[in-house]
Amino acid sequence: MTVRALLPLMLLGVSGIAAAAVATIPAQNALQPHGVQAAEIHDLWRLTLLICTLVFAAVFAAFLYAIWRAPHSKVQLAPDLTSLDQSEPRLRRPVIVGVAISALLLIVLIVADFVTERRLSRLPLKDAVTIEVTGHMWWWGARYLDDEPSRMFSTANEVHVPAGKPVILKLNSADVIHSFWAPSLHGKKDLIPGRTSLLQFRVDKPGVYRGQCAEFCGLEHAMMAFTVVADPPAQYEAWAARQRLPAPDPMTDLQKAGQAVFMRSTCVMCHTIGGTEAGARLGPDLTHLASRSMLASGTLPNTPQYLAAWILDPQRFKKGSNMPATPLSAGDLNALMAYLETLK
Ligand code: CUA
Repeated sequence: MTVRALLPLMLLGVSGIAAAAVATIPAQNALQPHGVQAAEIHDLWRLTLLICTLVFAAVFAAFLYAIWRAPHSKVQLAPDLTSLDQSEPRLRRPVIVGVAISALLLIVLIVADFVTERRLSRLPLKDAVTIEVTGHMWWWGARYLDDEPSRMFSTANEVHVPAGKPVILKLNSADVIHSFWAPSLHGKKDLIPGRTSLLQFRVDKPGVYRGQCAEFCGLEHAMMAFTVVADPPAQYEAWAARQRLPAPDPMTDLQKAGQAVFMRSTCVMCHTIGGTEAGARLGPDLTHLASRSMLASGTLPNTPQYLAAWILDPQRFKKGSNMPATPLSAGDLNALMAYLETLK
């Protein structure tokens, strides 16, 4: 079978995955701000759009006027070049006025930009939740910081925040430059290896907001999405309390066998499961994997079918991912799946 013959099948597969993903994460939209920071940026964007539209309309009107008033010639006649010898003093004033208006509009935009930037930096940060976000090729690590070390916990690709409370993100990168961008909540901020940058925002409306890496970072840059889930504060506290707990011990024989499969296969070399001997930090923390809605940084819905397919052959869904294929017998895979489902 040629590549061309395979193409429709491949497209079908890809669109199936995309449709499934769309069904789980809502679309991201910078024009629908749901936080104070995003609202400020949206206002600045609207002002810029208004000014640019007016300038475009004015320039286009001047262009049409120039065409209309240009002397019309005929092919048979010799060109009339007499105007080239005359200076056009009448034009001096419109040009000066045009330059002045352009400069003034640019100054208005600079001032608006400055004022917006100032407002963005003035978010009250009392009782803020601080999360250390680390960009990896191609997933997001999130560590919830706390003055008390025992209250810290880690998760990946899905950050929960309390609605109405400020959030401080400390952004780092483990490899190359990434960019954290949740358009409904705030603007972009780069994650640069070797330095920490800060991003502060507040979500006012509970909901699920999609974000995306916004700096090209290699093969799977496009598959580096994340979700910010804004919960009502009480619900957030309950979620955080669950995340702080270690993984529950496997109960049934099948689950116990699944844990043993995890510990003797390559899984244990990269992933952490709190409360077990798996403590590697190369890949996402799996302690509460089953509580997350997506797999592989927004690539696949977190269903048993996709999880099994992902474990067997991640490269099929995310070429270049650091996760190697894990060949397992049907029995081992079944047990592993039973265990992973307990990681709520
Ligand atoms: Cu990370 Cu693009």
